[in-house]
Amino acid sequence: MRERYAVFGNPVGHSRSPLIHAAFATQCGEDITYEALLAPLNGFAEAVLAFIAAGGRGANVTLPFKEEAHRLATQRTPRAELAGAVNTLVFSGRQIVGDNTDGAGLLRDLLVNQGCVIAGRRLLLLGAGGAARGVVAPLLAARPDTLVIANRTTDKAQALVRHFAGHGPLRACGDAQLAGTSFDLVINATSASLSGALPSLPDGVFAAGSLAYDMMYGQGETPFLAFARAQGAASLADGLGMLVEQAAEAFHVWRGVRPASAPVIAMLRAAAV
Ligand code: ATR
Repeated sequence: MRERYAVFGNPVGHSRSPLIHAAFATQCGEDITYEALLAPLNGFAEAVLAFIAAGGRGANVTLPFKEEAHRLATQRTPRAELAGAVNTLVFSGRQIVGDNTDGAGLLRDLLVNQGCVIAGRRLLLLGAGGAARGVVAPLLAARPDTLVIANRTTDKAQALVRHFAGHGPLRACGDAQLAGTSFDLVINATSASLSGALPSLPDGVFAAGSLAYDMMYGQGETPFLAFARAQGAASLADGLGMLVEQAAEAFHVWRGVRPASAPVIAMLRAAAV
């Protein structure tokens, strides 16, 4: 019987993970199945346990269950512990191992696919929710000159900075205090793009040669990337590469082989046209 994997979310119908993992499996000659499973909002743990009982070997977890998956795990990897959220589960005997591949996925997309340099550069991270929290430690591990977290609600940015104190050169900032500073890499980790909105940014935050990166993706340019283009950011990237890279990292965790991501990113881009 083919080994089973799945992604749990609510909603989950829009998920591209089944397509991505099917492409990885074909590419690597791994005989697996991967399906999207809708978990009830109050029934995530039961859905995962039923999947394990039915022979499931591992799973991805997407919104809104990443924190609940963190609690459900009987063991967590250090990167999942730091992120406070789990997007990858491995079922091993009686253990449910929780991992988080989001940060690794972002870093690989930035460093390998975008050719971005982080060491010694000035980074701005917009947002202080779960998406931002998941990438702070991996960004600091790449040794930037400074990482500023800016959020509409300044208190939440400050809380995040306190949480990661000691991990690197990190400081918090309210949206309003950004005026007069510029950054080499600006990452939008807010959910503003979901509602067609834009985090408020003063003119001049994009330094010459900067990369604007939106962790969201969708049809057409996000409001953040349109703003960055108008502000003169040298390069723009949406979160499709991160989506594929976090999946490749999960596939590697489960199967021990690392699929090539570039053809899968190209396939998804072509499908979106
Ligand atoms: P996620 O897990 O996707 O990060 P979240 O925890 O709800 O979701 O966090 C959403 C983030 O997007 C927060 O930083 C939020 O700012 P607040 O903390 O001030 O709420 C930010 N956000 C959402 N909509 C926004 C908007 N229209 N403008 C600016 N920031 C926005």
